[in-house]
Amino acid sequence: MKVIKVNLKERSYDIIVGHNLLALSGRYLSSLKIGNSAYIITNSLIKIKYGNILERSLRKHGIASRFKLIPDSEKSKSLSIASSVIRDLARYDNRKKVFVIAFGGGVAGDLAGFVSSIYKRGVPYVQIPTTLLAQVDSSIGGKTAVDLAEAKNLAGSFYQPKMVLSDVKLLSSLNKRQIGAGLAEVIKYGIIRDKNLFSYLEKNMPKILALKRGALEYIVYACGKIKADIVSKDEREKKGMRTILNFGHTAAHAIEAACGYGKYNHGEAVGLGMLVASGISDKIGLLKPGMPARIEKIIKTAGLPTKISNVPLTKIISAHYRDKKFIGSKNRFVLLRDIGRTKILCDVPLALIKKEIKARF
Ligand SMILES: NC(=O)c1ccc[n+]([C@@H]2O[C@H](COP(=O)([O-])OP(=O)(O)OC[C@H]3O[C@@H](n4cnc5c(N)ncnc54)[C@H](O)[C@@H]3O)[C@@H](O)[C@H]2O)c1
Ligand SMILES: [Zn+2]
Repeated sequence: MKVIKVNLKERSYDIIVGHNLLALSGRYLSSLKIGNSAYIITNSLIKIKYGNILERSLRKHGIASRFKLIPDSEKSKSLSIASSVIRDLARYDNRKKVFVIAFGGGVAGDLAGFVSSIYKRGVPYVQIPTTLLAQVDSSIGGKTAVDLAEAKNLAGSFYQPKMVLSDVKLLSSLNKRQIGAGLAEVIKYGIIRDKNLFSYLEKNMPKILALKRGALEYIVYACGKIKADIVSKDEREKKGMRTILNFGHTAAHAIEAACGYGKYNHGEAVGLGMLVASGISDKIGLLKPGMPARIEKIIKTAGLPTKISNVPLTKIISAHYRDKKFIGSKNRFVLLRDIGRTKILCDVPLALIKKEIKARF
């Protein structure tokens, strides 16, 4: 078991990474002294698989619980579901000291965080992430949100959890595509910040794909440390440090939007987006020779697509121009000099962007 500290003064918290932590969740959560009634937001699949272990451990440590089941879909990140969850929580919270547990992937995490941030102007919540993506990314940093018809994640808040419990044993029931979705972000952390992590991925991808305990603990801890460090320095994305976390995401958002959400999951689009960004970095002479090939190889070995199919290039380009990450009318790319060294560039020529996206067809 390893602990990472997110340093945010009075909002500081620990990320605990280990194997079989869920069975000890009651002990960890009771030590926080945030309440004796847990309102667990999850979906039925996760409740069936793991609900008993969580409930039993909480009970053993004097914490009562109630499960609130939400649909297993991005559609759960909506104002209408948030409102029904809040009303249900209000009915449960009758003279109790209640706190919320976000138990699931990024969908449960984002919704539960959002609900916790606005119910009674904020009640404590903890994250127990159950997907690789949620363990390395969405459970850390306090970004909560629901989607609006106009765009994804448009209504939200910054609201930090009191603890993140990342039990890698829970990842054993994920399928290959769900693992790939998280691995794209893991590769991203290696590329933007950590040469050792990148080399580890080059050497150990088969162990990760086989969901070996040691390999999963290594990557979840390494990524958690990087995200915790960036968030500690730039909690609200005001100083530009969180921007590097968007490496690969400019083109990824355009690919997701152009293809319709669902054809490529977010991680697959990020894999393609990282190839576009490394291609641009290479063409403008920023990136060390040999690097684009290494990056492409690691994305391939993770089982992520390296080619785009069945969508017109023009659709991706127009989606790119609608992206909210544009500053004024300028595009903004996180580019690379080397593994671990990024550079943010505005106004990358459209012809170059087109060329690099085209290279992915
Ligand atoms: N807040 C942030 O900083 C942040 C960062 C990145 C992504 N996100 C958000 O995260 C969401 C995506 O998260 P996700 O990829 O975890 O998706 P998800 O929550 O939909 O989970 C993916 C699928 O895996 C299933 N699942 C979860 N845990 C499982 C387990 N242990 N075993 C078997 N199946 C399991 C879920 O039921 C679901 O069908 C998006 O809404 C995205 O906007 C938020
Ligand atoms: Zn992402």
